[in-house]
Amino acid sequence: MKTVAVVNQKGGAGKTPTAVHLSFALARAGKKVLFIDFDSQATASLHFLGKKYREIELTIYDAVTKQQVIAPHQINDFYTFYLLTRNSQEQRMNYHEIQQ
Ligand SMILES: Nc1ncnc2c1ncn2[C@@H]1O[C@H](COP(=O)(O)OP(=O)(O)OP(=O)(O)O)[C@@H](O)[C@H]1O
Ligand SMILES: [Mg+2]
Repeated sequence: MKTVAVVNQKGGAGKTPTAVHLSFALARAGKKVLFIDFDSQATASLHFLGKKYREIELTIYDAVTKQQVIAPHQINDFYTFYLLTRNSQEQRMNYHEIQQ
């Protein structure tokens, strides 16, 4: 398994489009892809699921801060391509929460 992290402190650097397009290209190439949206703006979750991403009750925030078991969402029927969502209504994750 390979992990690709798309991270940059600067806003507007192209993180979201890079992650969205790279993940889709890998899925299309036959890779099994799990997209984990850690972004508190949840732009990628919105991109993949539309506004219904807000209806998903347990997100990566619950998994990290409360050790909740969460389920990935299949993005489409054609590829092995799953998403763990974030929710823009949630608080930002603090460093000490991610460390636990
Ligand atoms: N490969 C690319 N070529 C040209 N333009 C791009 C490319 N990737 C992203 N962009 C453009 O760059 C801009 C910045 O992208 P975006 O705001 O999504 O970056 P971001 O790093 O996710 O920002 P934020 O920190 O606000 O989440 C957008 O207008 C986007 O369309
Ligand atoms: Mg972004």
